[in-house]
Amino acid sequence: MSSKYTPMIEQYLQVKAQVPDAFLFFRLGDFYELFFDDAVQAARELEITLTGRDGGSERVPMCGVPYHSAETYIRRLVEKGYKVAICEQMEDPATAKGVVRREIVRIVTPGTVMEDKPSETPANNFLAAIAEKPEGFGLAVCDLTTGELYATSVETLEQLKDELIVYDPAEIIGDERLLARVRKSAGLYLAGAVPSVWTEQDRALLEQQFPSEERDSLPPPSADAVALLLAYLRETQKRTLAHLSAIRRYDAERSLWMDPFTRRNLELVESARDRSKKGALLGLLDRTATAMGARLLRRWLDKPLIDRPEIERRLEAVECLVNRSAIRDEIFRILKEMYDLERLVGRIAYGNCNARDLVALRATLERVPALKACCLSSGSATLERLLGGVDDCADLRDRIAEAIVDDPPVSVREGGMIRPGYHERLDRLREASTDGKRWIAELEQRERELTGIRSLKVGYNKVFGYYIEVTRPNLSAVPEDRYERRQTLAHGERFVTRELKEKEALILEAEERMVELEYELFSDLREKIAGQIPRLQKLAAAVAAVDVLQSFATVSAERRYTKPVLTDGYSLRIEGGRHPVVEATLGDRPFVANDTLLEEDGDRILLITGPNMAGKSTYMRQVALIAIMAQIGCFVPARRAELPIIDRIFTRIGAADDLAGGQSTFMVEMREIRAMTARATRRSLVIIDELGRGTSTAEGMAIAQAVIEYLHDRVGCKTLVSTHYHELAYLEERLRHLSNYSMAVRESDGEVMFLHKFVRGAANSSYGIYCARVAGLPEEIIERAYELVRGYEAKAAEFEHEQAVRETAGGRDARDANDAPGETVVQLSLFAEPAPERPKTVSRKERQVLDRIRDADLVNMTPLSALNLLFELRQKLLESR
Ligand SMILES: Nc1ncnc2c1ncn2[C@@H]1O[C@H](COP(=O)(O)OP(=O)(O)OP(=O)(O)O)[C@@H](O)[C@H]1O
Ligand SMILES: [Mg+2]
Repeated sequence: MSSKYTPMIEQYLQVKAQVPDAFLFFRLGDFYELFFDDAVQAARELEITLTGRDGGSERVPMCGVPYHSAETYIRRLVEKGYKVAICEQMEDPATAKGVVRREIVRIVTPGTVMEDKPSETPANNFLAAIAEKPEGFGLAVCDLTTGELYATSVETLEQLKDELIVYDPAEIIGDERLLARVRKSAGLYLAGAVPSVWTEQDRALLEQQFPSEERDSLPPPSADAVALLLAYLRETQKRTLAHLSAIRRYDAERSLWMDPFTRRNLELVESARDRSKKGALLGLLDRTATAMGARLLRRWLDKPLIDRPEIERRLEAVECLVNRSAIRDEIFRILKEMYDLERLVGRIAYGNCNARDLVALRATLERVPALKACCLSSGSATLERLLGGVDDCADLRDRIAEAIVDDPPVSVREGGMIRPGYHERLDRLREASTDGKRWIAELEQRERELTGIRSLKVGYNKVFGYYIEVTRPNLSAVPEDRYERRQTLAHGERFVTRELKEKEALILEAEERMVELEYELFSDLREKIAGQIPRLQKLAAAVAAVDVLQSFATVSAERRYTKPVLTDGYSLRIEGGRHPVVEATLGDRPFVANDTLLEEDGDRILLITGPNMAGKSTYMRQVALIAIMAQIGCFVPARRAELPIIDRIFTRIGAADDLAGGQSTFMVEMREIRAMTARATRRSLVIIDELGRGTSTAEGMAIAQAVIEYLHDRVGCKTLVSTHYHELAYLEERLRHLSNYSMAVRESDGEVMFLHKFVRGAANSSYGIYCARVAGLPEEIIERAYELVRGYEAKAAEFEHEQAVRETAGGRDARDANDAPGETVVQLSLFAEPAPERPKTVSRKERQVLDRIRDADLVNMTPLSALNLLFELRQKLLESR
């Protein structure tokens, strides 16, 4: 039975069966062709013409792109979230018997793009792998272009999702169900990440790629995730990836933890309004000179430190560079001349670098000694340690300098890369070719003399090679014995001689061999450098760190930031603090600096009231930003700052304030509050901006109050709360560690002026109606609103009086009355008790156990002391029976 399709189409179908979920770019001569459904879809996505081809018994839909411009098309498909499998011809069609052998050489996926984008962004392009084990969840994240590979394990799906969001991956691979669960819990956050179902792991590759000490210590979930990632990379990239040389494993708990909502709300890496980096803290702090520095800065901002000595080491370098502007400028100047070492190394390892990349590497390495000298003379112990001992890879620099010319061509297949004197045989071939060319150049003169034809010319074309051209009137003078006719033209004839053809063959052969040899020499050199990748990566990491530190110093000096004092205590004392980003956007208008004081024995919770637009949100965020800036090792916008190490930051915003995010409903907010109450510790900072909006006033206020009480009594964290529920000001009397503050306004002649000054005491009005008037609401509405509000206030006063009377009559009864439904929060606050009564199910001993767990300093605990604690707790529980 004869097959339905032509052999070529049959081959296509076989290959396509290996990659059902990818576009197959099938190489046919100078084109990549797509067939069948692929062709129909690609024609639509790429806006190219759909044609057809005779496939045997039927006509097959087809479209194609020229191989030399395929990269742009591939990128466009991948950016749309598709995968592209590239199938090449594996033998020379001229010599192949039957259908040329073809194989997939690589599958490009959103997470494995190696090609530079036209506007090469320094940002990372991450591929993430997730795995689930009984012990928990594993995450491995890699950037193929830079060779970064991070791995961690977490306990809950929630944490896995939070960690994933930090990386903003282009693609996530894993088991189908797990992928679905993660995406569901991430809501809108991971919308840009393409999920790829992948379950194969490769342990052998894990062993091959990493030394035993690195992989053995990986917790099982992380090891699974890394093995998953490696198997996927092998499947899609089909080559060894020497630049994935180290697993940077970390513990998510060992850095200042923030949930995705908090990161977004504080506008750390992108602004809420247009998701740009510019309006975010990252944009403000980024004065890096290199792409590797820019990427590292982002990583530092993603994971602020909680280890005081480590923070102080960074601050020491920043201080030194702030004070020594000449060195700082010099460092910047040197860094500016360095290329993206990590990406260069990535291309060298991947095998897609060209000679220009090597020249860029050389130029970068040439700058290292100067950078080193700067760091050594800076007087900073940190900079000295960073670069002092670093291997400057001078041998690699010299090798490249010896081998590669200063300005090589883009292509590695056309010669012109290798320096004269580098390789003897290449030099000889070059000589032969130049000699031959010189001989031909001189031939014209010689032949003119020999034949006496003054207009005789020597020329070259692709079809006939070198020839001698004689015009018609001179044909009689041609020496017929030596000249061989090749081509007749209208105005004359073209000839060759035996000698000319011999020389020509020599030149062409020499040139062909030269190109081959150059490619070989280049590949050798690339391999040699590829063998030294860990050295280059270490250097790149050190340079990147210097870059970030100089970036911090530059911003700090320009914006008059000060060095924070970090302590192990509880107190947070900021004098004259500013919001770095708002300050920067105000331009010439002065930003009003404000103090913040949160102390163990004093205020732990500041309840902030004040009218709209007074600066409440700005103030609260500025405290968080100052803490974060300090913990990444940067100076802070304050006159003076004494800061404890914060372990976690939570921010919550009233539903109505988060409309821009488009997803925050009251329910989501409540869920987030739950997460916060579960995870906040004494060392955490909690910011609540207008909690409880989005439901009825009474309930909203009740929830707000209950949350505040919980944080006050149970958690003891530092808390800033803003509210429009002025009634909550009563809490000051009830809660020992809570005080009222407000944003000051000046009122005169019915005009309100925002002073943006943070002052003690509750605001007496929210000026909501005033704002409504400023906004231009009809006077009739305004008048009526004032009238109503006066009515409410009178009622509230009456109510309070009644309650006070009842309280004196019998406290207990009055308190019980509070539990009755329908009572308002205002009254609750009148019957202050240091701690609300807990449900009876927990005994005092049990409570003590819970408190001990809550207060335990896990971060600084050794396994042995943890065991001791566990023993002690169990003892207590047994006693409480
Ligand atoms: N300390 C300050 N110095 C100067 N300008 C400030 C200061 N704080 C805030 N502003 C300005 O006031 C604007 C409003 O501030 P913010 O959003 O913090 O007010 P708010 O009290 O939270 O308002 P709302 O109650 O409507 O949420 C800011 O965008 C900023 O331009
Ligand atoms: Mg606000």
